[in-house]
Amino acid sequence: MDDAFSLAWRYPDEHADLLIDSLAKLNGVGRDQILLGDGSGEILKLCAEVFTGPISANRNGTAGRGTMVVAEPTFEAILNHARANGAEVSKVPLSPTFAHDLPKMAAAANEGLIYVCNPNNPTASITPKNDLRDFIAKAPQQTMLLVDEAYYHYADSPDYESVMPMVKDYRNLIVARTFSKIYGMAGLRCGYCVAQRETIERIRPYQPWDSVNIMALVAAMASLNDNDQVTKGRRLNTETKAFLTGELEAMGYKQISSQANFVMIDMKRPVVPLIQAFKERDVQVGRLFPALPNHMRLTIGKKSEMEAFLSVFRQVVA
Ligand SMILES: Cc1ncc(COP(=O)(O)O)c(C=O)c1O
Repeated sequence: MDDAFSLAWRYPDEHADLLIDSLAKLNGVGRDQILLGDGSGEILKLCAEVFTGPISANRNGTAGRGTMVVAEPTFEAILNHARANGAEVSKVPLSPTFAHDLPKMAAAANEGLIYVCNPNNPTASITPKNDLRDFIAKAPQQTMLLVDEAYYHYADSPDYESVMPMVKDYRNLIVARTFSKIYGMAGLRCGYCVAQRETIERIRPYQPWDSVNIMALVAAMASLNDNDQVTKGRRLNTETKAFLTGELEAMGYKQISSQANFVMIDMKRPVVPLIQAFKERDVQVGRLFPALPNHMRLTIGKKSEMEAFLSVFRQVVA
């Protein structure tokens, strides 16, 4: 990034091309199967814009748009974009194991978009690979499927798998990834999606040109060229998470089994006053997720940050 300062004022086309080349190689797809985004949040917004909308509008020539189907709870951003687009939103509660209830999501869908967040935010839980593979294979071609793999690098369960290899066989499948999580680039803004060329070409006209800047592009390239970064990030997260969850369990607090870089802790009482109590002691935890009113979402940080959290936890809760 230091080296790129002298060029950062330019339009980013050449840098974007280089990153697209690397991502195509990394994911074993063609360059025309990749769309970069200003964070994967832009990809989610674009998908809501292109594939969801009022069903009645279909009769007026916007066929291919429809209901937004999501899990409850999940990452809400896409749901708000779909609503702003006039789409109906159908929320399907997670299963008792906190997996997506794929048969119910399929039943709620029409020509619109089904959003599957795997691992899921805010529960850090996964939807098992066989169920997801089956669901993608059976979904009608006119229903678009967006699988958000923002937390893909953290998942180590044998029951987890990326659906990236399925893109070649399913024109309705879009896989979103981000540089904001394991690569630690959240403030720089860079994400992307992979889909078949025809699907990318349906989305591209809705995107502003050059939405990812040079600094983000060079940082993403540097991340991909650093062989140790993912391994190290994963190891640090696993170790720190094990430390945190061990301490919590010793105090009698359980969590939803986490396959991401955050945990959902069962506080055994309403979380809202606790969030405030932590804030007053300079510890910022996740917001309320209304479907899980007794759960607190905690991001895994450095070990020293987790120690600070646990010290406040002991004062406030235990
Ligand atoms: C599941 C999920 N998808 C997408 C995003 C958006 O990330 P970004 O726009 O930084 O890539 C987030 C951010 O927290 C997320 O949790």
